[in-house]
Amino acid sequence: MKNIDWSKLGFHYTEPDYIVRAAYHEGKWEEPYATKDKFLHLHVSATCLQYGQEAFEGLKAFRGVDGKIRIFRWRENAKRMAKSAEGLYMAPVPEEIFGKAIYLALEKNMDFLPPYGTGATLYFRPLLIGTTPRLGVGPGRDFEFIVIPSPIGPYYPGKFHCTTFVVNRHVDRAAPFGTGTFKVGGNYASSFRATEPAHAQGMDCLFLDARYHKYIDECSAANFIGIKESKAEIEYLTPRSSAILPSITNDSLMTLAREKGYKVTRRHIRLEELAEMQEAAACGTACVISPIDKVIDPEKNKIYSFGAEPGPVLTDLYRSLKDIQYGRAEDRHGWCDVIEN
Ligand SMILES: Cc1ncc(COP(=O)(O)O)c(C=O)c1O
Repeated sequence: MKNIDWSKLGFHYTEPDYIVRAAYHEGKWEEPYATKDKFLHLHVSATCLQYGQEAFEGLKAFRGVDGKIRIFRWRENAKRMAKSAEGLYMAPVPEEIFGKAIYLALEKNMDFLPPYGTGATLYFRPLLIGTTPRLGVGPGRDFEFIVIPSPIGPYYPGKFHCTTFVVNRHVDRAAPFGTGTFKVGGNYASSFRATEPAHAQGMDCLFLDARYHKYIDECSAANFIGIKESKAEIEYLTPRSSAILPSITNDSLMTLAREKGYKVTRRHIRLEELAEMQEAAACGTACVISPIDKVIDPEKNKIYSFGAEPGPVLTDLYRSLKDIQYGRAEDRHGWCDVIEN
């Protein structure tokens, strides 16, 4: 085990011993292999550099309460990366190659898997890039698949806390039939001019649909969840949109919410509907759930408040999913690959 102060790690890159790579040439993927070399010998005209042929993923392995290792829903990441590849006209990475690369990256970096109880996890960043040299506009024929592991610290080193979001109508994250459903670098690069000013003010950015600026799309790099409670029921609301990333965390939380007897609704959500919600949050692999205390809409001079403390429904969902990831609760859906080690 590496001599790392696990609980002090942030969501930052820590250099692993090995990364894993596999190249695609002449219509075929090679077997993934581990290497200590973290640099690419890449042609300056590679299509990833010239035309943004780049897609990525993010998933985690957890050391459980029973000492076993759990990799959470990696097949869903493999499927999503295949869709992103098709979206950018790249060769999809077959699930088998994706899985082998994740397992190899884990095996070769076992010393970087944080111990149970620290809140830290081993994060994997799969990456797919176009490597064909090309100056004429068009896609490449050669690709490189890379898995970069890195231990990351707990998202909430202290207590589970809330974030404030700000609405921005001057920057759209993705067009209705653009690349919003794909996890491609271009979506993030183009949103920095909205997210960075928000971060500088200690907030994060809430994106609206690009066509009408009326409906909630996404929370920065996470999906949106709202909770509406009445005497009759608890409703878990999340946006339907052709421009947002299908979050694996959101999908898992929706399943857990249904099991708890909540009504789960995915539909267009008007920004003003925030006023009817008792709880709101962003959700994704990094944080699981990041509760929202306020959404500020500076142009309309409106503030939607959800209270300074995370609400009970989202806190309960957060704990339920983490309990499965850490082996503290039964994994009824077979979400975790369990490795005895
Ligand atoms: C834009 C965006 N939306 C949503 C998510 C959450 O997806 P997941 O739960 O699969 O991590 C992410 C993070 O991966 C993201 O970058």
